[in-house]
Amino acid sequence: MVDDLEKGLEGVLVAESGLSSVDGDAGRLIYRGYSIEDLARGASYEEVVYLLWHGELPTEDDLESFTASLAEERSVDDDVLETVEQLAEADERPMAALRTAVSMLSAYESENAEPDDLEATLRQGRRITAKLPTVLAAFERYRLGEQPVEPDPDLGLAANFLYMLTGEEPDELAAETFDQALTLHADHGLNASTFTAMVIGSTMADIYSAVTGGIGALSGPLHGGANQDVMEVLMEIDESDLDHREWVEQANEEGRRIPGFGHRVYNVKDPRAKILEERSKELAEDGEEKWYNYTTTIEQYLSEEQGLAEKGIAPNVDFYSGSVYYQLGIPIDLYTPIFAMSRVSGWIAHVVEYQEDNRLIRPRARYTGPKDQEFVPLEER
Ligand SMILES: CC(C)(COP(=O)(O)OP(=O)(O)OC[C@H]1O[C@@H](n2cnc3c(N)ncnc32)[C@H](O)[C@@H]1OP(=O)(O)O)[C@@H](O)C(=O)NCCC(=O)NCCS
Repeated sequence: MVDDLEKGLEGVLVAESGLSSVDGDAGRLIYRGYSIEDLARGASYEEVVYLLWHGELPTEDDLESFTASLAEERSVDDDVLETVEQLAEADERPMAALRTAVSMLSAYESENAEPDDLEATLRQGRRITAKLPTVLAAFERYRLGEQPVEPDPDLGLAANFLYMLTGEEPDELAAETFDQALTLHADHGLNASTFTAMVIGSTMADIYSAVTGGIGALSGPLHGGANQDVMEVLMEIDESDLDHREWVEQANEEGRRIPGFGHRVYNVKDPRAKILEERSKELAEDGEEKWYNYTTTIEQYLSEEQGLAEKGIAPNVDFYSGSVYYQLGIPIDLYTPIFAMSRVSGWIAHVVEYQEDNRLIRPRARYTGPKDQEFVPLEER
């Protein structure tokens, strides 16, 4: 028995994993040994999902059949869509709608997987991964008072999502950028939502329960959500009477924390932020430059002039993903659900990996409550 209490499990090793590794000092992220830079630039999101789930990069044939099998599973049962419509009309938050839909999808699952049949779990995981974008795009369409757009099986997962949101096929830059963003969010060690999914998986509960739990954990403002906060700050700058440089100086004088800056694991610039910064720049060259300019001004001012880089506070993935999504025309409150749409692949990979050598996760708490209380019957209290 270990009696040391590590609040928030900070730094506590709870499992071995061959999936992803984050080196916060070097600013390096790898999935199964491959650098995030190589994967984002050279592989599609589907290739990355295959890598996470099957341990190796797919061959062309593997990828073709895997991509096709994901595309085949995109449609969502009408009953689920009806519920999504009701939630949209009731002004429910998109993360809550997504969580409800995943839970409900399990009722329409065709395969009754035995808890220890990990191949079947992966097939179910594939169906969830394929359907999440359809659910989320449908939610957006319903709240705009429009009907969902049928998925296009000829498009990749990323391009198809953008297509289902608007009914228009995205251009190459948009599709590629969004695909990269999904790759960059697919896995990130044992963060809170991944650990939540693993804890649920460790009871040998089904993968729908694990993903539902993961979405719940990601919905909290301490986990997902910073990219939305970043975009809100950029919009505040845009609406301010101050020039963006003056705005950040004033925010700094007021001791305001800028969302998207600083990370519990990274002490240098997040490698994912570097890639998204490049994409944000390219999108800006094609469209509006101001969002990119605001972010680079903030970064230059805080990192260099205010010396935050030296203190290990640097832009994290959210700092640039917010403006990238905005430039792709995605509504701000869909940013965290999009994170879930991508991270679902990591949750599933971790659950299956853990279940291969499963041990029920069952920690304990140090009891600090009263002892030896004298029981008083209800009528005498
Ligand atoms: C993530 C975070 C909690 C890490 O905090 P930390 O490593 O404990 O850093 P500290 O709170 O010790 O801050 C160190 C210094 O950097 C400053 N700083 C840290 N984050 C900052 C930010 N986002 N904006 C401006 N200044 C910041 C602090 O004011 C402090 O300055 P000081 O030395 O003059 O007092 C913090 O950076 C933060 O709140 N970031 C914004 C929220 C966010 O984007 N979260 C998403 C993380 S995935």
